[in-house]
Amino acid sequence: MARITLQGITKTYGQEVVAVDAVDLEIRDGEFMVLLGPSGCGKSTTLRMIAGLEEISAGEIRIDGRVVNEVDPADRDLAVVFQNYALYPHMTVSGNLSFGLRLRGVDASEIERRINVTATMLGIEGLLGRRPRELSGGQQQRVALGRALVREPVAFLFDEPLSNLDAKLRSAMRTELIKIHRDLGRTILHVTHDQVEAMTMGERICIMRDGRVVQTGPPLEVYRRPVDTFVAGFLASPPMNLLNARIAGESGALVVDLSPVRLPVLSDREEALAPGRDSAITFGIRPEDLHAEPVPRNAAPLDVEVVAVEALGPEVVLIAALPGGEEISARLGRDFSAPPGSGVRLYADLERVHFFDAGSGRALGEK
Ligand SMILES: Nc1ncnc2c1ncn2[C@@H]1O[C@H](COP(=O)(O)OP(=O)(O)OP(=O)(O)O)[C@@H](O)[C@H]1O
Ligand SMILES: [Mg+2]
Repeated sequence: MARITLQGITKTYGQEVVAVDAVDLEIRDGEFMVLLGPSGCGKSTTLRMIAGLEEISAGEIRIDGRVVNEVDPADRDLAVVFQNYALYPHMTVSGNLSFGLRLRGVDASEIERRINVTATMLGIEGLLGRRPRELSGGQQQRVALGRALVREPVAFLFDEPLSNLDAKLRSAMRTELIKIHRDLGRTILHVTHDQVEAMTMGERICIMRDGRVVQTGPPLEVYRRPVDTFVAGFLASPPMNLLNARIAGESGALVVDLSPVRLPVLSDREEALAPGRDSAITFGIRPEDLHAEPVPRNAAPLDVEVVAVEALGPEVVLIAALPGGEEISARLGRDFSAPPGSGVRLYADLERVHFFDAGSGRALGEK
């Protein structure tokens, strides 16, 4: 059981640096929550305050309703795994796994049981007698994870534990962690700046920027309905195209004016956008919502000039210039090709476009 509640959590260093600024966040019991954001946005500081490794400047942290601000880290019953997992070099894997338990006075048969369960779960049964230097990076990472698992804490706090692994191993460990969460049902807070980790692992993701929470929700909801241009431009790669535009009137209907190109606004968005008429907005469309062929839904043609074609294998990313000069990217089928400088007609899926206030960046007229 562990519901972790952050209320107005703030961390200031000295007079100047506000690393975490009045963060409110509730991590539900048994939830896999991902904290996502660019470097320096306050993710690790937030995690360290929850773990009790960093003093809290203001606000309250509760675990299952109990305020833990002044509770010793050892008494919070949370296990932390960092990016730089320092294993004890002179101890075997088995020694590394059992060390914390022995300190706590857990009896030998219980230690053995937990090591066996954990080693099996992580597929490191055959490595228990080895020392860290006799392990690959990925195996060492498993042992570090194992050290947290054997403690059977009420919740796990992970601070970028996969970022030292190569792409293939990282992807395998992602799956591993999802499985572990499913098997154990424990609360997990996983910090990362990797959007793929966030999208695939999190039941909910919390996106931070400059010490503040910008948006919290299930990954697909955040992807489909970003609250502002920051989230829109941060999640997914290549990110959403964000273009300077105006909402204008044309024969009684609203259009997106990308001067000189104009795109229609679907009637169900008109009412919400009407107040923004004739004012500057940011128009957003994801690369995957631009197509090389007409789509069987509301789409508008968009003529562009090819700047570059990046063939990635399963797909092609087209970088192209709009007639006004702004560049956009489009994710197209793997067989697409066109020489740089040539003209191409794309089709914009009008049901999946986004509008943001040009000044504040906040989303306008979301459905
Ligand atoms: N001990 C410290 N003294 C002063 N400033 C600090 C200290 N620790 C962190 N900061 C600042 O607090 C801010 C948040 O740091 P934090 O480590 O939480 O970021 P992060 O989101 O984990 O970044 P990364 O993705 O790079 O790990 C940064 O601007 C950082 O420079
Ligand atoms: Mg960090």
